[in-house]
Amino acid sequence: MLKKCLFPAAGYGTRFLPATKSMPKEMMPVVSKPLIEYGVEEALQAGMQDICMVTGRGKRALEDHFDANYELEHQIAGTDKESLLTNIRQLINECSFSYTRQREMKGLGHAILSGESLIGDQPFGVVLADDLCINPDGPGVLAQMAKLYPHRVRWIEKQYPLP
Ligand code: UTP
Repeated sequence: MLKKCLFPAAGYGTRFLPATKSMPKEMMPVVSKPLIEYGVEEALQAGMQDICMVTGRGKRALEDHFDANYELEHQIAGTDKESLLTNIRQLINECSFSYTRQREMKGLGHAILSGESLIGDQPFGVVLADDLCINPDGPGVLAQMAKLYPHRVRWIEKQYPLP
């Protein structure tokens, strides 16, 4: 039912300065994987393959991360290191990625509104990639929320019937 997931990722990340002076905070690694990759995994696990990102100035690395890097891939082809790209390749194959820019940093609500051109008039999930939520024993937070979503919709429709 929920196919799209919006990632507001245009914030300055001032709390992580100086690390975020020239690097998007969503690209900060936890072990060897950037935060944004954990977020996209969470969305995919919840059945949301349509990944929509709201980016801004200095966030090109996000788009590059979810794209092929032929030179690098050629360089490590056939070596042990190739397996290190298995996960990101799988995400690139299974998801579709689209991007829009938040032109002025007017906060999270404005970033979500800036994603309207990508989302359209559909229900969607939201992941803030700088908040890492991991559930090693079961489905991720977004998958749990997506499971509840149809029940919530039915409840709201019952409580507030359209005239
Ligand atoms: P934060 O509250 O963490 O804001 O935003 P921030 O500006 O990135 O962080 P600090 O306070 O300067 O360290 C929560 C989420 O909303 C996005 C951020 O990228 C983050 O994923 N955001 C925030 C936007 O996309 N645009 C904004 O104007 C503000």
